[in-house]
Amino acid sequence: MTSTNEIRRSFLDYFAGADHAEVPSAPLVPYNDPTLMFVNAGMVPFKNAFTGLETPPAPRATSSQKCVRAGGKHNDLDNVGYTARHHTFFEMLGNFSFGDYFKEQAILHAWTLLTKEWGIPADKLTTTVYHTDDEAFDLWRKISGLPEERIIRIPTSDNFWSMGDTGPCGPCSEIFYDHGDHIFGGPPGSPDEDGDRFVEIWNLVFMQFEQQADGTRNDLPKPSIDTGMGLERIAAVMQGVHDNYDTDTFRALIAASEALTGVPAEGDQQASHRVIADHLRSTSFLMADGVLPSNEGRGYVLRRIMRRAMRHAHLLGASEPLMHRLVPALVTEMGQAYPELQRGQALIQEVLQREETQFRKTLEKGLKLLDEATGSMDEGGELDGETAFKLYDTYGFPYDLTEDALRSRGIGVDRGGFDAAMDRQKAAARAAWKGSGDAASGEVWFDIAEREGATEFTGYASTSGEGSVVAIVKSGQEVKRADAGDEVVILTNQTPFYGESGGQTGDTGTISTPEGLLAKVSDTAKPLGRLHAHQAKIEKGSVKLGDTVHLDVDTARRDRIRANHSATHLMHAALRNQLGEHVTQKGSLVADDRLRFDFSHPKPLTADDIAAIEAEVNAEIRANETVATTLMSPDEAIEAGAMALFGEKYGDEVRVLSMGRKGTEGRNYSVELCGGTHVRATGDIGIFRIVSEGAVSSGVRRIEALTGEAARSWLVSREEALKVAAGAIRATPEDVPARIAALLDERKRLEKELADAKKALALGGGGADGGTAQAADEEIAGVTFSGQVIEGLNPKELRPLLDEAKSRMGSGVAAICAVNDGKAAFAAAVTDDLTDKFNAVDLVRAGVEALGGKGGGGRPDMAQGGGPDGAKADEAIAAVKELLAG
Ligand code: ALA
Repeated sequence: MTSTNEIRRSFLDYFAGADHAEVPSAPLVPYNDPTLMFVNAGMVPFKNAFTGLETPPAPRATSSQKCVRAGGKHNDLDNVGYTARHHTFFEMLGNFSFGDYFKEQAILHAWTLLTKEWGIPADKLTTTVYHTDDEAFDLWRKISGLPEERIIRIPTSDNFWSMGDTGPCGPCSEIFYDHGDHIFGGPPGSPDEDGDRFVEIWNLVFMQFEQQADGTRNDLPKPSIDTGMGLERIAAVMQGVHDNYDTDTFRALIAASEALTGVPAEGDQQASHRVIADHLRSTSFLMADGVLPSNEGRGYVLRRIMRRAMRHAHLLGASEPLMHRLVPALVTEMGQAYPELQRGQALIQEVLQREETQFRKTLEKGLKLLDEATGSMDEGGELDGETAFKLYDTYGFPYDLTEDALRSRGIGVDRGGFDAAMDRQKAAARAAWKGSGDAASGEVWFDIAEREGATEFTGYASTSGEGSVVAIVKSGQEVKRADAGDEVVILTNQTPFYGESGGQTGDTGTISTPEGLLAKVSDTAKPLGRLHAHQAKIEKGSVKLGDTVHLDVDTARRDRIRANHSATHLMHAALRNQLGEHVTQKGSLVADDRLRFDFSHPKPLTADDIAAIEAEVNAEIRANETVATTLMSPDEAIEAGAMALFGEKYGDEVRVLSMGRKGTEGRNYSVELCGGTHVRATGDIGIFRIVSEGAVSSGVRRIEALTGEAARSWLVSREEALKVAAGAIRATPEDVPARIAALLDERKRLEKELADAKKALALGGGGADGGTAQAADEEIAGVTFSGQVIEGLNPKELRPLLDEAKSRMGSGVAAICAVNDGKAAFAAAVTDDLTDKFNAVDLVRAGVEALGGKGGGGRPDMAQGGGPDGAKADEAIAAVKELLAG
């Protein structure tokens, strides 16, 4: 027997031998087509090579491409488990010619590989061609020699292949294998063609056109070839079984679920085992490619598939979550060919286990409700839409799960009623929103959100991608297009641009098209918490609804934001370690140039606190541990020790960011709920530095900090300043503190010396002999008077100097004017025996007036004042003399 792994290898080797470049499978999420949910054919990664937009990897290529068909144009979900040949996940083997060979070579290669290389008998094969394609018909006759009745002309779309509503397409020719008359079914085109007897194993598409959104078809630059062979189907043929689920890979997976449930895959239980095996593959591969369960978009398709499998596990009587325990068997079978499965194994198991644990909480009750609603129904009955909606809304039953659950009893579901109930719920949400007094201008967002659903955010994994334009808003109104010079808000179905939320600033970047659009995105907002609104200025070209656009985030800026966001988490943990558990986040801003964090704490941080926090954070940065993100229910997250924000509204699922080294309890240094974007490993933060700490309000402190290059240049500029300072005082930077302390001491000493000198000068006239020259006393109308003007005298010294003059004179009047920086302080004193004749206050007032000032005060024996005009000091003394003279 030839194993599935050997068949894959043999196919690729055959075409590699015929000059085809072997190209590895692309991830399941298409990077080049926003209209497509998942890669659903081998040609999808080459779409732009067919249309001429990109250079092909080589003129000829071959691949084994992972495909998911569950949602969108090609959806096989409902058939899985009930036919021999349908899967949600499968591998498509293909050979491609990009304008190199065309129909003849394609048919020749297919025929040679099947009948010569692999030895499949020609009489088991039947082919089809598009009814008008005489060329293909004649080529089949010539190359295969098949009789005309086994080259069937098919007039329907079955023989015209297109990838989706738009994209490359063309007539095709299919090759069928006849599994024998013991199986029910007829050849293609016959009434019984849907049976399992004749199975399509290979489709050769003669790519000639490109389907446009407006319905027209253009010729491709060069006719090309796209082929697709389902690996599972050809494996069945080559392993001599008619059922894909009897091939080696599926037998191994089903054996694992038989072993774990103890239920053999027979009778009624067979379909359940098949659904589980198939869905195990699609869910695991999707998660390995970065899709995680959610309630929107791709994540919801994943969740629908998971829950469908989980109901079947329950049906088999599994009393514990089952799916995650099957992952090892899958990795054994397929991990060699797809190493991403091995790399993702731990995450896949964790998510599956959590989802199943969670879903089992409502599954039982939902099934009971379903039984009550349909218990009395016979085959042909129909479950009402209200109940189906309740199952969806309250018990987490995706619509197709309900359908699947009733299928074996021949009971249908009222889809119209389900949709109506869903619409009613949306209308109620809108009414509640209007009632909440939110700005009426926001209604445009509600219209868009309701029509388009949430924007899918692809920016955790990448910073560029494609999106289709679903709305353009100009001055608060929806418009159909925008042109150069317009400032508009552009919304796409998916985007890597982060919309401002949770304190993290919105992304900037560009939106462009090959047709010439260039729009600069200056910010991204997140209205209603689920739309990503790009604020854009159209620099060149134009944009219209439905356009496929390239979205490119400014990655250097985003990297800085990531570093600041992750550093915020580390700092939050350090604050709690250093200051205590009372520290809780009160506000946060994560910008590209800095981070700001407000938190509860009753007093200023000391320099030691700050140093310790910085040291902790930087130690975690250097440890460079990978940052891990997991999805959990809020309860589980809190159980896992995540710091949650009180009063914050969380959905039924949260992202949990674990960062830093593991502590003694096995818990990471920081565990927080967060929807933001983060570094891959803490080392990406580079350096962390707190630059300010202060109060915001009572009990709330604010820290601002820098990371990476911003922190480095901040440190450099500080060092530059230090160097300049050191140069000025002729010290090395290390000596600066000691030298400054010494300089300050010296200054104090000099100030004191200077003051003493001035005092001595005033007392003694400052003679060059160092003696204490004194003011010359004079006699005025029989009264001894001493008057002096002293430059630079500290006004504090006036009183002691006057006291000294009084005691020297015994009886008399003294006045001193101290001049500093052009201003004057003036004081006068009268010995007690003369106070009945002269009042010191009057004398001072006269002097002050002469100095251009006003007032002055004190006692009759000692008074003081001052004036702005120090140049008039002598006149002030003269004014006193005049009063004495009478
Ligand atoms: N693209 C073709 C298909 O998917 C080969 O059938």
